[in-house]
Amino acid sequence: MRIAVLTERADGETRVAATPETVKKFIALGASVAVEAGAGTRAAIADDAYAQAGAAIGDRAATLAGADIVLGVQGPAPETLAGAGPGALIVAALDPFGQRARVDAYAAAGYEALAMEFMPRITRAQSMDILSSQSNLAGYKAVLDAAAEYGRAFPMMMTAAGTVSAARVFVMGVGVAGLQAIATARRLGAQVSATDVRSATREQIQSLGAKPVFVEDVRGIEGEGSGGYAGEMSPEYQAAQAALVSGHIAKQDIVITTALIPGRAAPRLISAAQVASMRAGSVIVDLAVEQGGNVEGSVAGEVVRVGGVTIVGHRNVAGRLAADASALYARNLFNFLGAFWDKDAGRPVLLDADEIVAGVRLTKDGRVVNPRLTA
Ligand code: NAI
Repeated sequence: MRIAVLTERADGETRVAATPETVKKFIALGASVAVEAGAGTRAAIADDAYAQAGAAIGDRAATLAGADIVLGVQGPAPETLAGAGPGALIVAALDPFGQRARVDAYAAAGYEALAMEFMPRITRAQSMDILSSQSNLAGYKAVLDAAAEYGRAFPMMMTAAGTVSAARVFVMGVGVAGLQAIATARRLGAQVSATDVRSATREQIQSLGAKPVFVEDVRGIEGEGSGGYAGEMSPEYQAAQAALVSGHIAKQDIVITTALIPGRAAPRLISAAQVASMRAGSVIVDLAVEQGGNVEGSVAGEVVRVGGVTIVGHRNVAGRLAADASALYARNLFNFLGAFWDKDAGRPVLLDADEIVAGVRLTKDGRVVNPRLTA
């Protein structure tokens, strides 16, 4: 079983899909691993480190020659996969809704495409969940990005020259990224509040020492969609939420938004008028900017100033911590393939009946087979 680890071609992608640690683990399972030269450079992993772990280093053609499994961070363009074996597994974050034509091309080329962001949210799959591992780091980094843009301090400081007051931080969307953002802002000494549409998050917010800000007494407060994800809220709820947020946001120094709805554009949580209500020097970080944005006026890949307010819209925020993001991502991929590895067969055996396999598999035998794409 030959595993190829590719250098990412997408703009701004810093991460790599395997580390020397996971290379060793794949080799221990009996696989051979080839790594494209320079694959780990931006994540601070030198080719030598992969070689010492037992990988062969080569150009893309040599890396792909006869590959049975291709590991990537973002989905590789099908036309750049020449040399990979027939039926090769393509294991990466494939953006199936956004890159539908590419999924069709994987099918046409006979590859078996496995979209890691479709990992079901079940206990057995937690260690394979790339959305969790990357969101966690993004939530942390969002707070540091906010702190770097903010012209004031986060903690309260009593100095001989007078008192510096604590920053007020408001986190909107308390999933994996939001929880980490709350924890990070608290560690920096900020006064933190947070909101979500899922009522289960109220206790989580409190347990991190932050104040929950919730819409009360409006139908749809549960907000729980399938698999622990949020669904879209009723117009009545959205209006109540907007009113609540308007009052709160004007008093905040930092706002971190993380709200996503799977398979849809991110919900709009902050209007231009609400941005304008914030005091000069405030900072908003829109972690949903690549999915359409939670904040009116945020721009993907840019830090913009609207009046006196700075709106941060970095892309690929986890990739701004390339080394840790790669380490966790690489383990997610190993945990997935390792869990299905059949020692006797010397390869992963992906049974149709398995919930995880059915969740992530997009294409097989020349066809698109995932119900989320075919329905
Ligand atoms: P996500 O990235 O899809 O969304 C982020 C947050 O935004 C969610 O908490 C969502 O409820 C919230 N949101 C959506 N629309 C909103 C709106 N209009 N206003 C305010 N907030 C809004 O969510 P994420 O981080 O992927 O986590 C969702 C849940 O799944 C969490 O409860 C998490 O603990 C759970 N989970 C379970 C896993 C497992 O069992 N394997 C793995 C990872 C997460």
